[in-house]
Amino acid sequence: MKVEVVTEPLTGVRADALVVGMMTDETKLPPALAALDRQAGGRISAVIAAEKFQGKPGTVTHLHVAEGLGASRVVVAGLGPRKAANPELVRRAAASGLRRARDLGARTVALEVFGDGLTPRQRAHAAVEGAILGTYVFDRYKREKSEKAVETLKVIAPDGRQAPQITEGARRGEVFARSTWLARDLINAPANDVHPTHVADVAKQVAREGKLKVKILEREDCAKLGMGAFLGVAQGSPEQPPKFIHLTYTPSGKPTKRVAIIGKGITFDSGGLDLKSADGMSRMKNDMSGAAAVLGIMQALPKLGAKAEVHGFIAATENMPSGTAFRPGDILRAMNGTTIEIGNTDAEGRLTLADALCYAAKFVEPQEMIDMATLTGACVVALGPLCSGLMASDQRLADRLLAAARTAGERVWQLPLIEEYKEQFKSDVADLNNTGGRNGGAITAGLFLKEFSGGIPWAHFDIAGPAFIDKDSPLGPKGATGVAVRTILTYLTSGK
Ligand code: BES
Ligand code: ZN
Ligand code: ZN
Repeated sequence: MKVEVVTEPLTGVRADALVVGMMTDETKLPPALAALDRQAGGRISAVIAAEKFQGKPGTVTHLHVAEGLGASRVVVAGLGPRKAANPELVRRAAASGLRRARDLGARTVALEVFGDGLTPRQRAHAAVEGAILGTYVFDRYKREKSEKAVETLKVIAPDGRQAPQITEGARRGEVFARSTWLARDLINAPANDVHPTHVADVAKQVAREGKLKVKILEREDCAKLGMGAFLGVAQGSPEQPPKFIHLTYTPSGKPTKRVAIIGKGITFDSGGLDLKSADGMSRMKNDMSGAAAVLGIMQALPKLGAKAEVHGFIAATENMPSGTAFRPGDILRAMNGTTIEIGNTDAEGRLTLADALCYAAKFVEPQEMIDMATLTGACVVALGPLCSGLMASDQRLADRLLAAARTAGERVWQLPLIEEYKEQFKSDVADLNNTGGRNGGAITAGLFLKEFSGGIPWAHFDIAGPAFIDKDSPLGPKGATGVAVRTILTYLTSGK
């Protein structure tokens, strides 16, 4: 979908469909819609009245217009009450409006930059982001592709003076959404194609396109560095070699800060010798959702002109049972020398992340480290499928990430890192055990990771719930969501 900003009136803009917004508490049509209605011979108000369309969030209606307008179809999307206006309602209205326009066969769609109370830049960002996210489809593996697709999105800036702001917002919204698409594509694709070597290839491609630095460490390189925790997990996959990926984005001016982002990159989690059930394993191609988010974010940073220096890390491997696999009771040694007794081979994510955190702390010395991981089923039990857990060693960092998530429209809830729970992963024979008891599993996993953060302000997103969903959502179909990309991009580019 090509995005362009046009300075044409709603009435004249040439398109197969025009998407406009309507609030619930509008007793009469707002001026822009009223003008449109007059040009269309009163048909819009007639349809709204006949259908008792109220502009509730998530609702949408449409009509075909033979003459009077530049567009042959008008789609009206509900925005909810004026006083509740926020970017998320704009995103959702744009998403449902675009889906309707697409389903009506429109190829060129004009979009009103709706959303009272927001700046033109915020509105354009939210509308374009929603439009692109909402029309995502994953049909790469299907013989029959949908013939209906929007090719051109015309973002309308009716007032020429606002065009620069609208252009800037639209561009940011487009970058945010496209990098989320990259993450979704990687997660939705199956583990037989998305193996560690493929993840490394995508990292190289992202680096080439965005002029980033990329370094890929092979199994032997990791062994020399003493990454025994990561390699313990990778041991079960002699056929699919692990890859440790380090991407670096350096801004053109003096960096405002140096941040490391780390994504869990288990391309398939069978559980290892502590094998998962068929049901538990069925969606485990998504266990690299954190890694996919890192790739999406790294792809976006140069396009957004981010001012921070950002290092992206992925310890990519499968977690498989085999004759060479690591076993319950094995003791692994992480890069910082900590020994870890394996209580359960299915608690593999924290092992791979432990070495990634050690590596980042040692070689990059970032001011902040943020990891994203589909880490625990316990987090899904605690917060359900639509909310990520956040744990952090530094409350200021946590507060800023929570604010970024709110701006981005992603749900995140902070969980406490209760130090006393550390006794759950005491080991009789090693420094730590990789599993705690059943209770507070998301928190104990967080506490485990914190042991490897080297005292650097660190935050951890457990995205096990929202990374991959069973039902269609307002901003995309069921399957991969690309969660965390937009929150972290908001965080890394705020104040810009
Ligand atoms: N990848 C899973 C966590 C997961 C579960 C992600 C459900 C998405 C949906 C992780 O590696 C895992 O298996 N964790 C175990 C830890 C346990 C053995 C301590 C879990 O949550 O059961
Ligand atoms: Zn696991
Ligand atoms: Zn896992």
